Amino acid sequence: MYLISNREMLRKAQREGYAVPAFNVHNLETIQVVVETAARMSSPVILAGTPGTFRYAGLEYIVSICQQAAYLNQLPVALHLDHHEVFSDIHQKVKAGIRSVMIDGSHLPFESNIMTVTEVVRLCHSYDASVEAELGRLGGQEDDLSVDSKDSFFTDPQAAKIYVERTGIDSLAVAIGSAHGLYQGEPHLDFDRLAAIRQLVDIPLVLHGASGLSEAMVRKAIGLGICKLNVATDLKIAFADAIKSYFAQYPTANDPRHYMTQGKIAMEKVVEEKILMCGSAGKF
Ligand code: 13P
Repeated sequence: MYLISNREMLRKAQREGYAVPAFNVHNLETIQVVVETAARMSSPVILAGTPGTFRYAGLEYIVSICQQAAYLNQLPVALHLDHHEVFSDIHQKVKAGIRSVMIDGSHLPFESNIMTVTEVVRLCHSYDASVEAELGRLGGQEDDLSVDSKDSFFTDPQAAKIYVERTGIDSLAVAIGSAHGLYQGEPHLDFDRLAAIRQLVDIPLVLHGASGLSEAMVRKAIGLGICKLNVATDLKIAFADAIKSYFAQYPTANDPRHYMTQGKIAMEKVVEEKILMCGSAGKF
């Protein structure tokens, strides 16, 4: 009951002109901070995990912690499979209670991408789980997924229309110039392309690689149809930097309750800032 699909969340965001933030979580602390902050701000929220995160923390642990966080805060959340590629892996995780899935076939040729995604849509819809897929390819690094900028390419609007019609996906991740991880220099988003995609595709659009994007850019992207904003790196940096400075100040410290608390305080600020940027506060 507390782990839901993101279908209705994103449709409401699309109707009302805001985006739902999706934060990559890794452990108890990140899950607590994201859900508690979203609940305090009455914002819908998505908790995302890559295959590497589930390997690190364990599927059952992540599912249970997210369920408890949602229950304790009375905030149903979508626990989302970020950049998953393997059918059997997705099936196992959906059976464990996850209802929000991204199948990433963006590395495949167009027809194979469609075939792979269609099969996952059939599976997930039979569990009433929502499906996001990517057309075009983002550059940058996220966990095990590393795409050199020369291998990245933007989403073609006409192809996106065909892709959405043929696969039956619930949301589409677009490649318009954002990248995973830290930006080298100033990011540039192709807003004309986003507008052209929006003209031809009427399902919610997703922007990956949102860390490091300015508020003005994010707001413009939301105005052109982005309904889900993916954030990983900004949260990781806040967590790690706060813990590093705690140890710099107290080199002999060893109590996780002390240094983790500093990390949590720093992450809370990031979550708050992204919720405000998305315009999702008060929308739950
Ligand atoms: P960032 O690490 O750039 O925030 O990207 C996150 C993301 O897109 C997750 O899929």
